[in-house]
Amino acid sequence: MKTRILGTGSFLPPGVVTNNDLGRMMDTSDEWIVQRTGIRERRWVEGATTTTDLALEAARRALESADVAAGELDMIIFATLSPDHEFPGAGCFLQAKLGVSGIPALDVRQQCTGFLHGLSIADHFIRAGTYKKILLVGAEIHSKGLDKTTRGREISVLFGDGAGAVVLGAHEGREGILTTHLHADGRFARELWVKAPTQAVSGERINAEMLAAGEHYPQMNGRMVFVNAVKKMPEALKEALDAAGATVNDVDLFVLHQANTRISEMVCSQLQIPREKFFSTIEKYGNTTAATIPIGLDEAVRSGRIKPGMLVATAAFGSGFTWASALVRW
Ligand code: COA
Repeated sequence: MKTRILGTGSFLPPGVVTNNDLGRMMDTSDEWIVQRTGIRERRWVEGATTTTDLALEAARRALESADVAAGELDMIIFATLSPDHEFPGAGCFLQAKLGVSGIPALDVRQQCTGFLHGLSIADHFIRAGTYKKILLVGAEIHSKGLDKTTRGREISVLFGDGAGAVVLGAHEGREGILTTHLHADGRFARELWVKAPTQAVSGERINAEMLAAGEHYPQMNGRMVFVNAVKKMPEALKEALDAAGATVNDVDLFVLHQANTRISEMVCSQLQIPREKFFSTIEKYGNTTAATIPIGLDEAVRSGRIKPGMLVATAAFGSGFTWASALVRW
């Protein structure tokens, strides 16, 4: 018995924000952003749109492509670092929007590796026979939580909004999830984080001084993230390949987390992954954290880059630090 990806879906909000648009908000340039990151534009939501609004569209498309009705789902797993509200989790809001009350709705808080953590959890529930059909969503709205002044430029140019989803089900045969691998090293938790609101103060979790200091915006040690990402992503991919007894040559497509083109290029060169086997979305969407991999999978399927029977490898690195990988026979 394996867990198979039965269908994929994604949804990107229509509002395109180019590097030149950012240059009108802060001291940055298209040239700097493209050269350092490979990002040309990203999507930002408008108005009161929430993360679960994006997730709902992606989920509907995934359910349709899987030919599964929402009522057949046994569980929802929702990976996000930008839920609609601090609590309850985004999974509960999505469950209500899908009209499937009663089934468990679990939030996963593992940032860029959230989707792969969700994939591993879903795989274990399905192979154990606990659940037959699981909806796994990765969705983010970063645009409402970025410092859009020059103070925040190192981070704000990197992230975008979006959602991706897969429907997973039990399957007898060679297709399905072959292996998943999850890691974390909390010693680096403060290298890419949002400091406030926090319990690590006496009194209220958020106050005027914290807001004035921008502690409610993400902060990052960019170089530290870069150095660790180019080390841990190849390690995680190698771990997955070894566990499945496969090599880079056996893989048909690599759908990696999209944080930065330079990181991806270094990962590919370390493992000697040919350019044509690497699927990229960073130019048009930036880093959408937990949504990046399911958006990539959906676009690869819909554009014919992933076909049934192909071997697909995926890996991610991000805040926590966390890193993860998976190998899937499509
Ligand atoms: N526009 C223009 N200048 C910027 C800028 C921006 N958006 N952001 C930062 N700068 C400036 C800095 O203030 C600094 O200026 P200084 O030299 O006067 O102090 C300079 O650019 C830093 O440039 P450089 O050293 O060339 O940057 P870098 O090569 O380290 O690249 C990152 C910076 C953020 C692109 C890089 O560290 C990175 O990609 N890190 C990983 C980030 C990531 O992927 N995060 C998500 C992981 S899931």
